[in-house]
Amino acid sequence: MKESKGKKDSLIAAAPHEDLNRLLELILESGARMMRARASSLLLMDPKTQRLNFRVATGAKKNEIKQFSLRVGEGIAGHVALKGEPLLIGDVSADSRWYRQISDQIGFKTYSIACVPLKVEGKVLGVVEFINKEGGGSFQESDLELMNVFSELAAVAIENTRKFRLVEQENRELKQKLNLSHDIIGESRAIRQVVEDALRVADSMASTLILGESGTGKELLARLIHQASARRNRRLITLNCAAFPETLLEAELFGYEKGAFTGAVDSKTGKFELADQGTIFLDEIAEMSHSMQAKLLRVLQDGVFYRLGGNVAIAVDIRVIAATNRDIAAEVKSGRFREDLYYRLNVVELHMPPLRERKSDIPLLARHFAGIFQKEKGYESIEISDDAIEKMMRYDWPGNVRELQNALERAVVMGRGKNIKVEDLPMLSTESTLESMPVGMTLNEAVNEFKKKFIEANLKNTDGNQSQAAKIMGIQRTYLSRLVSRYGIKKSGR
Ligand SMILES: Nc1ncnc2c1ncn2[C@@H]1O[C@H](COP(=O)(O)OP(=O)(O)OP(=O)(O)O)[C@@H](O)[C@H]1O
Ligand SMILES: [Mg+2]
Repeated sequence: MKESKGKKDSLIAAAPHEDLNRLLELILESGARMMRARASSLLLMDPKTQRLNFRVATGAKKNEIKQFSLRVGEGIAGHVALKGEPLLIGDVSADSRWYRQISDQIGFKTYSIACVPLKVEGKVLGVVEFINKEGGGSFQESDLELMNVFSELAAVAIENTRKFRLVEQENRELKQKLNLSHDIIGESRAIRQVVEDALRVADSMASTLILGESGTGKELLARLIHQASARRNRRLITLNCAAFPETLLEAELFGYEKGAFTGAVDSKTGKFELADQGTIFLDEIAEMSHSMQAKLLRVLQDGVFYRLGGNVAIAVDIRVIAATNRDIAAEVKSGRFREDLYYRLNVVELHMPPLRERKSDIPLLARHFAGIFQKEKGYESIEISDDAIEKMMRYDWPGNVRELQNALERAVVMGRGKNIKVEDLPMLSTESTLESMPVGMTLNEAVNEFKKKFIEANLKNTDGNQSQAAKIMGIQRTYLSRLVSRYGIKKSGR
């Protein structure tokens, strides 16, 4: 018995789970044969509905029976499931527990039943029943041992399938996690390291500070961390701290009650509340004013806050990810950024490397973006010439991946969706602008002339997108738009 059990386990474990039904049917068929039963059924319990569903059956009405189900406690099968003990009934018509409706509906005459529970680790998963002993007799106590073997076989098959599915699901989840990192293109050591670190801390609650120059992919990394964390099904709320003046930022973060200030005609839920149980991404955190930093620190310490004009303390469970392209340590040193807040935010600190420090990723990134824009613009295919790749490798990409992405979008269009040549790449155009600079003006005039041309070139490079151009030049967008009107630069592009 022991030996055969070992063999039995391995045999069943090897069966692919989609064949479970067929396997259970085989077990029932051979069981029925050896028990000399005319029919048999296996019913499985649905834990949610607490109903026993006919899963597999043998005998003349094996298909008809499958539409039925029984409540736990209902009929012989329901009774066995409830008590967890086998039952042998010689004449069902004399037994008040018998639920005759099923037999009547499918037109199958039932005389005798032997029914055993299907247990795994003491828990009843369902029942197995054998019906109508051949030759008209009834099932005997001596049949029970054989029945137990079959119900055990079925239980092992079901349990193995369940475990197999769990492993499969875990596998799927792991694969998903790994695939996520594919959003962040790059095979250089530098990028692989930062992605690996990000995935490692993803599941922790640790506040994470992402540092790196403009356009290096800080936001992309923040998304990856959220997606790889247990909070992935909750929201990732992003707040750009540079986009609001102080009072508005406070309202954005904490929300407000109706009448909290002039213009608050309705109440508003803040980003902190929206991010409850999820992640909040505080972008450009170094742009936060001192007093806002103090308020943020308090929330992070206490885990509670008040809406503006509200008096109910709101508790939230939030994972914080912050990012900045500034040298935050220097900001702390000079007193512009609170040291205590800095330590709250950088429990984990991740650095997105600038593109010039991982130039080996340039061809990969270039082809990636070329592919995206080629599809987006409806071109069939696109090649990047070796010269063009070489030019990209030589360039230093101050605007990092974002600049590369913009360059490729332009090049795909310029290359008419066929071939990207050196001339299609917009960078380095500022060099010639400098050379053609006229002489015979004051330094001040020359500086202004240079600024104007420099801004024009960058705006052209970004198709007139001021936010992008400002980022590449390292200035605030609002400052850029003032310069644009001061120098009378014509708005072009989008
Ligand atoms: N490794 C990468 N693979 C693919 N796309 C990338 C990668 N890094 C950045 N990008 C793309 O470049 C652009 C800029 O990335 P992102 O906005 O994440 O940068 P950032 O560091 O937040 O920049 P900023 O400081 O200017 O806000 C995005 O369009 C992003 O999808
Ligand atoms: Mg960003």
